[in-house]
Amino acid sequence: MTASREQFGSRIGFILAAAGSAVGIGNLVGFPVNAAKNGGGAFLLVYALFIVLFCLPVMLAEISAGRFSRRSPLGTYQALSSGSKFWSIGGWLALITPYMVGVFYSVISLWILAYLVMTVTGDLATLANPDFFGTFINSGSVFIYLGVLAVMVISILQGGVKDGIERAAKTMMPALFLMLIGMVIFVLTQDNAMAGVRFYLIPDLSKINMQVINGAMGQAFFSLSLGMGILITYGSYMDRKASIASSSKLVALTDTGVAFTAGLMILPAIFSFNPDVNPDELSDSSVALIFTYLPKIFLALEGTMGYTGASFVASIFFLLVFFAALTSLVSIIEVPVAGVMDSWNASRKQALIKIGVTMIVVAAACTASFGMVDSLTNFVEYGGGSKSLFDLVYDTFYDTILPLNGFLICMLVSFRWKKANLDKELEIGDPNYKGSLLERYVNISLETFIPLILLFVFVDTVLLKFFGYSLI
Ligand code: PHE
Repeated sequence: MTASREQFGSRIGFILAAAGSAVGIGNLVGFPVNAAKNGGGAFLLVYALFIVLFCLPVMLAEISAGRFSRRSPLGTYQALSSGSKFWSIGGWLALITPYMVGVFYSVISLWILAYLVMTVTGDLATLANPDFFGTFINSGSVFIYLGVLAVMVISILQGGVKDGIERAAKTMMPALFLMLIGMVIFVLTQDNAMAGVRFYLIPDLSKINMQVINGAMGQAFFSLSLGMGILITYGSYMDRKASIASSSKLVALTDTGVAFTAGLMILPAIFSFNPDVNPDELSDSSVALIFTYLPKIFLALEGTMGYTGASFVASIFFLLVFFAALTSLVSIIEVPVAGVMDSWNASRKQALIKIGVTMIVVAAACTASFGMVDSLTNFVEYGGGSKSLFDLVYDTFYDTILPLNGFLICMLVSFRWKKANLDKELEIGDPNYKGSLLERYVNISLETFIPLILLFVFVDTVLLKFFGYSLI
């Protein structure tokens, strides 16, 4: 335990930083499209149930483990298992996972940064050309944007927990909320917007099946930044006066609120652009939606608002998504940085250089794997086809490893660290927690069905992604 560990300066600082991590591209684009295609209001209900019944206990476990150990995930797994070699595997996974998720998230974030710069500088018409995205991701300029993005992330992290991460979240998160609300108000005043709202909210129970339920769970787990070591790390910077349970509830509420509100922006925008759209046919990928479909919608505003007005709305949208991406990126890169600082006694600067330089190299390789370099584009064969380096990183670290990490943290906390210690940590700063219904629920769920489901999802995802076979 280090006496001089950095800390968040206030409870709201922790909440905004954790919410900054949770609110990301997944909330703003992935969630609305998923919800619209998979039963609208019915999906929202399933999603909300997963957040409360499934994700909240894991969130409490991660934050408590981190606050107790005051270490990065590697140190936390060691401290809670009294130095067991076996359990340090979990710690290593919780360091490598955010490193690799950080790599693929950087690639998508740098594209968003580029689109932001281009809308601000008057290139909206170029972005709206359906062929532009494919050409852009294979152009040399992506490396410049990668460099600019790296400088931004590194300068925030160099400021440390309070003056870097917390300050950035306190500036960007309120701005993000304001821009989101502004966009929703604007979109709802457009023709046909209400058709989108209806499509988004009216429940269609017939769409709910096992695949949709599995998808809702995966989306909820990813959205709250679970299984990535982030909440262990942020928990280790939390002071011992605040209640973990009430802070976590606020983070989950903010994250879900933003995802829900984003639906009121995306779906009405799609319907007002094309009232006959069949959302079932919208692409599954958030990438296609952000980078090819939405620019067309923004350009269509030219008719009523002029080119400058349309570019302004597009700039606000990309700034909003960029802020969401940047606060998530900062949180995920802090995990390996904290790991290097803790385990190798490095200064923040040394850790940032080590992690920063190596990550830029791997991210640049992923950036070049969309056609620029053939050996990276056709990197491996699995799941019935040739995959790029980016695909491999995405398939392995986005949906496969996260449930495994979630399973490991549940097992560590329930069976190695023991529930009594978890309860004790959760009672600090929260006298009402002792004996509460939540306490009983957390204890039972974390040692029974939550890890079982996570293990099942892990096995099923490996079978599906790499062998083309599903258990459900
Ligand atoms: N919650 C983020 C999202 O919805 C997920 C994430 C967090 C991804 C941190 C990367 C880093 O996009």
